[in-house]
Formats: sequence, C-alpha cells, structure tokens
Amino acid sequence: MNKTIVALDFTNEEEALYFLDQFDKPINVKVGMELFYSAGPQIIEKIKEKGHSIFLDLKLHDIPNTVKSAMRNLAKLDVDIVNLHCAGGKEMMKAAIEGLEEGKIGDKRPLCIGVTQLTSTSKEIMNNDLLIEGEVIDAVLHYAKNAKDSGLDGVVCSVLESKRIHEICGDEFLTVTPGIRFSSDSKDDQKRVATPSIAKEEGSSYIVVGRSITKSQDPYNTYYEIEKTMRG
Ligand code: C5P
Repeated sequence: MNKTIVALDFTNEEEALYFLDQFDKPINVKVGMELFYSAGPQIIEKIKEKGHSIFLDLKLHDIPNTVKSAMRNLAKLDVDIVNLHCAGGKEMMKAAIEGLEEGKIGDKRPLCIGVTQLTSTSKEIMNNDLLIEGEVIDAVLHYAKNAKDSGLDGVVCSVLESKRIHEICGDEFLTVTPGIRFSSDSKDDQKRVATPSIAKEEGSSYIVVGRSITKSQDPYNTYYEIEKTMRG
C-alpha cells in the first residue's frame, strides 16, 4: 500500500471524481466530512469502483453506544480505515471496535485509528481553549496509549509526535500524519506541520496530504514525488 493518502476535500462528488480521473493506478484517498456530507455514502462505492483504498475520516465522538452503532454501519461500507476522537475515552473506543467487528464484510474489519490532537491545535489552543494543561506531546502520548489499550490500530497525530508514539506503542501501531507541507507552501489553518522528508525520517506510517496536492499545478506528479520521498 502506498504511504501517501490524498485528502479529497472537495465540495461535491463531481469535483472529487474529476480529480481522481487523472490517476491511472489505484491510490489511497481520504474522504472527510466535507465530501461525505455533500455526496453521501454512495461516493464510497464510486471511489471503490475505481480501485482506490479509502480512509473515511468522520472523526466520531459520542456516547459509546452511538459510536458502536455508527461504526457498525461504517464497516458495512467496506472502507479500509475509519477514525474517532480519542477524547471520547476508552469505553467509547472499545465500543467502536465492537461495532466494526459486528458490521465487517468478510473476515477483516476496517482499521480504526484515533485522533489525538488535531494538527490545527497549538499548545496555546490546547491550554486555553480545551483547558488541557502541559505540552501537546504529553496529551498526544496519553491518548495514543489509551487508543492502544482499547484495541485501536493506530492514531492520527502530527509528524512531530510519530517517533515517540512508536517508541511507546510499538512499530506496528500506525501513525497517520496530516499537517504535511512543502517548505514553500502556506501553512493555512494547520499549526503542527512538517515536510514529507521529515515525515519519512520521523517514521510516519502514512501521511495525509490535502491542499499541497489538490491545489498544486500538477497533482499527479506532486503525488508521485511525495510518494517517492516516503519510500526513500
Ligand atoms: O489540506 P491539508 O493537507 O491541510 O489537509 C489535511 C487533512 O487532514 C484535512 O482533510 C483534515 O481534515 C485532516 N486532518 C487534519 N488533522 C487531524 C486529522 C485530520 O488535518 N488531526
């Protein structure tokens, strides 16, 4: 499986499918709230028909029973990866895995990863808005350990935290890292950013890249350049 996941943050199905038309081989894509809420679950079937792997990024966070039922339904879409917010706690994360097991198609449930702290969250935002004291890395590591204890397959974190998470949770535990920018790019709303080569050095299992690919002059070549960097 490729190491780069392209965030299909498009307003509607037409734009997303038009973007994908330029890729002649299957790639990994991320369908997030923007596209899923506009296009509905059928967008998943259409992307799967083209052979792409799908990370469905809906970041669930609710009471355990609701998350369990929602995950049961998401598993039926037969996507490759789903996610939730670790802030929902261990009981919620365990319920999510139960739901995925109940809804899975075939033997393999979708992988489930937990968002630790959004890559748009800085220390100031975490301390002042979320009222979580200390450094971002400590909160991220705490959530990663909870995710592992609850049976999740990995976490969403920034590149800057990837190595420490692997030290604590093991190399098999996935670190999926958004907040990827070339040095020449604007950070936009992201705060904890890094380049693809730093992501490679820090051991990100997968990187999620949105605007640096989708808004580039040549998305196809940008994708394969990044993939080459990640494969080293
Ligand atoms: O355009 P950009 O590369 O910043 O897009 C990053 C993508 O990753 C967005 O779709 C965003 O929702 C998602 N994401 C993130 N930070 C997280 C989890 C997901 O930026 N912690």
